[in-house]
Amino acid sequence: MSATIDLLKAHTSVRSYTDEPVSEAERKAIFAAARQASTSCGLQITSVIRVSDPEKRRLLAEYAGNQQHVITAPEFWIFCADYHRDRLLCPDADLGWTEQFLVGCLDTGIMAQSTMASLESLGLGGVFVGGLRNNIEKVGELLQLPEDTIPLLGLAFGHPAVRNELKPRLPAEITFMEEVYRAPDPELLAAYNDEMRGYYGSRSSASKDTDWVATLKPVLLKERRPFILDYIRKMGFAKR
Ligand SMILES: Cc1cc2nc3c(=O)[nH]c(=O)nc-3n(C[C@H](O)[C@H](O)[C@H](O)COP(=O)(O)O)c2cc1C
Repeated sequence: MSATIDLLKAHTSVRSYTDEPVSEAERKAIFAAARQASTSCGLQITSVIRVSDPEKRRLLAEYAGNQQHVITAPEFWIFCADYHRDRLLCPDADLGWTEQFLVGCLDTGIMAQSTMASLESLGLGGVFVGGLRNNIEKVGELLQLPEDTIPLLGLAFGHPAVRNELKPRLPAEITFMEEVYRAPDPELLAAYNDEMRGYYGSRSSASKDTDWVATLKPVLLKERRPFILDYIRKMGFAKR
């Protein structure tokens, strides 16, 4: 139907890159597109920090749980929710509302996805690195973030050396609804779980004997970064 739809439907995360650098022209074009993303009330509360220094990359990879693509990717950008500019322009800004924090996360995620789509449109590939939040405070220190900012996620990208097979998503019959909420059909959920078992078993790298529900459990059943609330409050957010 459109080249953009085809591009978005072909998305897979890319964690392995050739040595070819991303040119300055490509970088500028990607960010020129990303910065035009929608922004709540025109606030423009996202900053992107490009990290190239090898020692900083090594530390960031460690902070993210030893994710090697943080080191090997030609480009590594970190997306931060950033109300620091607003604080300068509007010293009495009341930024402690949880809603302000939510808006910062939304805007930043939207700009990050625009960046992903833009780089993919140039034939590049990347992967988000939320693992940075395993050590969010150390990431903030490394980036010398001021108060009223928070590092939310990284994006490693470059020219793909390996492209993964498409990872199936839940069927639209489950995730798209009309007018009101519709509980998921258990049969459709079970069919998707089987589809994912097939995907994990047959994919060309890191194949494994598992299904979708089994992969959810380690994420949903354990403590999740319990230090986050204290950190975001320390940075001036979500106080009420
Ligand atoms: C907010 C966010 C954080 C993510 N963090 C990581 C990460 O730390 N490491 C990683 O390898 N992939 C990460 N991913 C990528 C997901 O694992 C990936 O998108 C998902 O498994 C679906 O695979 P696909 O993108 O290839 O379709 C993240 C994705 C999102 C949206």
